[in-house]
Parts: sequence; structure tokens; C-alpha cells
Amino acid sequence: MSEVQTGKNVNLEKVQARIENHIDTLSTFTATPGRGTTRLTYSQEDLLARQYIKAEMKKAGLTVREDGLGNIFGKLEGSLKDSPSVLIGSHFDSVPNGGSYDGPAGVVAGLEVAALFTEYGLTPKYPLEVIALIEEEGSRFGGGLMGSRGMAGLLAEEDFRALKDKDGITTVEAMEKIGLDPFLPKVRDPQTIKAYLELHIEQGPILEEKNIPIGVVEAIVGLTQLELTVKGKAGHAGTTPMDRRSDALVAAAGMIAQFPELAESEGAGTVVTTGRLQVYPNGANVIPDQTVFSVDIRSGREEHVQNVIQKVHKLADSYFDSGIEITVEQLLYIQPKEMNKEIVSLLKDKSSKLGFPSCSMNSGAGHDAMIFADYTSTGMLFIPSKNGLSHCPEEWSDSRHIAEAVQILFEAAIELTEAE
Ligand code: GLV
Ligand code: MN
Ligand code: MN
Repeated sequence: MSEVQTGKNVNLEKVQARIENHIDTLSTFTATPGRGTTRLTYSQEDLLARQYIKAEMKKAGLTVREDGLGNIFGKLEGSLKDSPSVLIGSHFDSVPNGGSYDGPAGVVAGLEVAALFTEYGLTPKYPLEVIALIEEEGSRFGGGLMGSRGMAGLLAEEDFRALKDKDGITTVEAMEKIGLDPFLPKVRDPQTIKAYLELHIEQGPILEEKNIPIGVVEAIVGLTQLELTVKGKAGHAGTTPMDRRSDALVAAAGMIAQFPELAESEGAGTVVTTGRLQVYPNGANVIPDQTVFSVDIRSGREEHVQNVIQKVHKLADSYFDSGIEITVEQLLYIQPKEMNKEIVSLLKDKSSKLGFPSCSMNSGAGHDAMIFADYTSTGMLFIPSKNGLSHCPEEWSDSRHIAEAVQILFEAAIELTEAE
């Protein structure tokens, strides 16, 4: 293991200025200017962000490629032939009307670590790869974590091809529209990966409240996403008596209204959210004949997630025989995941040697790191989020904190890639 301690020499002001420039530039690639970042996977905004990320990877001296999912990889070759890479990155898609930091902060951190390797003339023994992943949020094709799941072989080719967005456009059509090749390999052999490191904004209030700049993630919550389809019967809003209706929206609303109590009765920080709801045919004077809505369930303990799933099924079944039919589809299921203990200690050690206070944290948000955790040695750093806000245009983090996290990741990457 290398004993090089380069961190104290890093010009943090310079790194910080570059980070701000990256974040500001990426935030311009939005479908909703002035109303936050909306960057759906394989959209024109994805293409513009992708072109920027690829150009910056090249500037940092990396060899760039994309896989059959459209994930982007920038590689700094290692001196040890055919050796596994240390990956650093995050995702570059967003939720609708989201912020500038969720995902991009981690991609930018990867770019900056690579830029520092080049600036310091470091030669890694094991390759360093900056990675920018697609569709972590699932905002276009549902489910989420699609880039990492695809790489890990957890998304069958036929399932990937069958996915459509809300306008009926398939993944393959959308990829081809922005010039991506869906026929390139998707699955990556885990033997080619030595470790995965991800910086992310906390998206909650803890670090800011404690005034601690760095969180070292120990574990990530288990989560599932269900999609419920409620079928009723359309009719005239003025002429159909109330007792003769099979209103798909009233049924959906009745279920959704029970979720807060259901989560609370489960306890232990269990959370249940419906964030997406579609109503058909969506006319003010038409009784809805169909609604489709998401149910996102999370807990640090898998049994709580399981219990809520069962309760949702039971609730759906209770409409049987009422003129309403409800089907439940599970789009995503991931167990709670622990981060690799050695990487956790390495990140804590580097933070403390650089003089940055850190604390252990658990993540209530899902991250690509939870997919990589079963696949390679994985670790995550959090930095504070202003007012704990995320998934909204007000999301903001201090570029100084990102720069400090970059310095920690730089040191960790030197050690993991055995660079000198
Ligand atoms: C991603 O932000 C998630 O936690 O769903
Ligand atoms: Mn997110
Ligand atoms: Mn994210």
C-alpha cells in the first residue's frame, strides 16, 4: 500500500472553482429551465450532459467509452496488465424538477479525482475509472438504479427492451434517437472491478444540523417500488349517480390516504410514498376508469418492507367484488445493504488524516452503491444538503464540501489503485 499523502498539497480553491463550473454547466441541461433540473434518461438533455461529461473525461486524460445501456466510463489505464478498476462516480439523470446536485455531485467528484491524478502525474497500478450512470432515479422507465442493475446483470436483456416510457417509447428507440448503441455489451464482469466509490449529497438534514462536513455511509435502506393499476368504469360526471360508480381515482385515493398510518404502525423509520399518479382518461367531467400509481416503501430492516408490501396487497384485495380491480406489480426490490467495512475504515481514516470531521451515517435514499455492494467493495461519502432538501429545485450543497470529499476520495483512490 502506498504511503503517499498528497492531500495536503491539493489546491482546494482551484478544485472548488472547477466543481462549481461543472455543476453550473450540467444544470443548464434541463428540460425545465428556471424550474429545476429535469434530465430524463436518453433525452436531449441527457445527450448534452453526456457530451459535456465525455469531453471533460477526455480533458482529464481518460479514455472514454459507453456501454449498451449508455453508462459512460472514462478510464485511466493501470500499469498492471488486465487488472480490475477502481470506479468512482454516480448518476447523471434527475427526477422531474429536481436539483443540480443529486447524482452530478458524484460524477463531478469522479472527474476531479481523475483530473488530480493527471495533475499530480500519478500512475495507478490498477486502473481508475470515472463512471456516469443512467436512470438511477427511474424517472423515465420506472424502477430506478437501471444503469447499475444492468451492469450487474440484474436486468435481463428482454426486460430492458420491453421497458417503455409514459409515451410508449422503448429504451432501444430512445437510445437510438440520441445516437447510442443498445447492442453494445451491458453486463460487466465483476472481475474487472476492484472497488466502487460514490460521493452523494446527503439529501437530509443530519450533517448540516451537526455541522459535520462528511458522512461515511455504513448502510443503505432496503426499498421497493410497486406500481398499482386500478381499473374501474368510465361514465358521465353529471348523470351517473354516486352509488352506481366504479371510480378508479376514488379507489386509488382511498388506498393512498391509508399509507401514512400504515407506515407509522410499522414504525422503525419505515416510510411509504406515492409520488406518481396517472389518471385516465383525465377529463374533468369523466369518471376515471383507470389510475396507475407508484408506492415507494423503505426501511432499514427488510421485514418492515415485506410487511408493508403484504399490507398493500391486502388492501388491494379488499376491493375485490366492488367493481374495482387492482393489480400490483413490483418494479424494484432491493434489500438493505451494508457498505464494505474496509472501504468505510479507509474513508474514515483519510477524512481524519486530512482534518475533516466525519460521522457514520445510514442512507434513507437509494443509490447505485447498493447494487455495487453485492458486486464489489463499495463505499459512499455524503456531504451536507442545505436545509436537508433534495429532489426539488432548492437542492443545494456547498462546493467546498464537495472539494473536501474529492480530496478524501483522491487519497482513497491513490491507495486503492496503488498509484505512485
Ligand atoms: C433516489 O434518489 C431514491 O432514493 O429513490
Ligand atoms: Mn435522487
Ligand atoms: Mn442520487
